Amino acid sequence: MNLKSKITALNIAALLIMLIILVPVITKISDNYNLSTILNYLQSQGEYATIYVEQYSLNKAKNIFEVPMVMDSDSPYLTSYLKRTIKCRVQIFYNNRLLGDSEEIPDESRTIRPEVQEAFKGNSAYFIKSGKPRTLYMAMPINISGRYSYSLAFIYDLAEEDKMKSNNINIFIITSLLAATFSAILSIFISNRIIAPVKNLSEITKKFSKGDLYPRVKVKDNDEVGELAHNFNSMADSIQDMIYKLKDEQNKQKNFFDNFTHEIRTPLTTILGYAELLWKTDNTEVKDKSLFHITSEGQRLLKMIESLLELSRLKRYDFLINKSEVNLKELLEEVCDSMHYKARRYNIKLNLQLDEASYFIDQDLFKQVIINILDNSIKYSKTDNIDIILKKSDNIKLTIKDYGIGIDEETLKNIYEPYYKGDLSRSSKIEGWGLGLSIVREIIEKHDGNVKINSSRENGTEVIITL
Ligand SMILES: Nc1ncnc2c1ncn2[C@@H]1O[C@H](COP(=O)(O)OP(=O)(O)OP(=O)(O)O)[C@@H](O)[C@H]1O
Ligand SMILES: [Mg+2]
Repeated sequence: MNLKSKITALNIAALLIMLIILVPVITKISDNYNLSTILNYLQSQGEYATIYVEQYSLNKAKNIFEVPMVMDSDSPYLTSYLKRTIKCRVQIFYNNRLLGDSEEIPDESRTIRPEVQEAFKGNSAYFIKSGKPRTLYMAMPINISGRYSYSLAFIYDLAEEDKMKSNNINIFIITSLLAATFSAILSIFISNRIIAPVKNLSEITKKFSKGDLYPRVKVKDNDEVGELAHNFNSMADSIQDMIYKLKDEQNKQKNFFDNFTHEIRTPLTTILGYAELLWKTDNTEVKDKSLFHITSEGQRLLKMIESLLELSRLKRYDFLINKSEVNLKELLEEVCDSMHYKARRYNIKLNLQLDEASYFIDQDLFKQVIINILDNSIKYSKTDNIDIILKKSDNIKLTIKDYGIGIDEETLKNIYEPYYKGDLSRSSKIEGWGLGLSIVREIIEKHDGNVKINSSRENGTEVIITL
């Protein structure tokens, strides 16, 4: 049974249960009300009739002893007179004997009815005889001058009330059927509204599970289903995002591997070439040249492997840096001093503007950062001047700026990728591995800092580190 049928069935069932309980209760209440109205009516008519009969008999009899005689002879008249005003069959009894009856239908049982007997004892009484129609029997005592006890009985046909009762039941049944039909239509309509987004959600999840990550659920309402749809969409967004990131990461890894193999190929080929030459030649000059190249290429390779190891060590999430409070001004002066010779070889002046500042850093790693950045400016930028500016305010800001050729946009976008090198270092004799800035970024991130590179052809390159 699907959800829609369940909701519809539940609604109809609830309605029917309610009607099954309500119909008899309401019919009973309305029937009781009708009966009590009739009883009240007969009661008041009865009170009036007993007085009338008493007065009539006392007036007609010459003395009190003639009353039974008058009653004997006039009871038929009295009953038919009373029937006209009260509008029901009227009987008068005396001493368990029927004196008068407003109708000539013989009473089927000759025995005196219990309510009539009760009236002889001085009490009013009634009972309702079931049947089709029901009949209301009521009797009241008539006491004439405290001497003669008569019983005045009414037999009231409840056909009207029975008809009303069965009409009520019919009306209820028709109303119930109409209500059930209406409720069924309404339930189908409402359940369609509730279920449509659930169906939509189910279709989309099916597609999603098959790998189609694009479709999203239409969120129409703000109810619980709407919220579910909304949550599903957010979940789908994050899964899609994660998958893209994973694919991106995969691509990066593949690029890294490709680049690595490509990079080590050239120096290895050179080394092998010269080694072969060593086997073949006896010429001392050639031997020396070969040994020189083998050594320098070997050293370059070693340097690369060291950088790579450093990068992989830094990338480990559990790698802890060794922090201590370091005077940054002194550290920068020291590093610039050591880079001084290299800068002079390129005719570059290092200009220092350093605020007094200390910070908790890993001294060796931080030195490496500055050396890498300065080394790039010296090697690639073709600048005359490099400014090294340390500013201390709310945070610490270190700017290393050159006025050289700048970095093209494509290189700038990928500059932190390992082995990514600009055209310059790829084509020229300057040999870099493209690992320097990857290491810089890892180190700065380990210090919870931030590194930013601004570069243009006109203004050169500035690297800004904020701690
Ligand atoms: N100041 C600069 N001016 C011009 N180009 C630069 C500058 N700094 C970096 N670059 C470019 O960015 C590239 C990446 O620099 P990075 O330091 O990461 O690698 P590398 O210097 O080539 O190699 P390594 O640092 O591993 O020896 C360089 O190849 C160079 O093309
Ligand atoms: Mg470099």
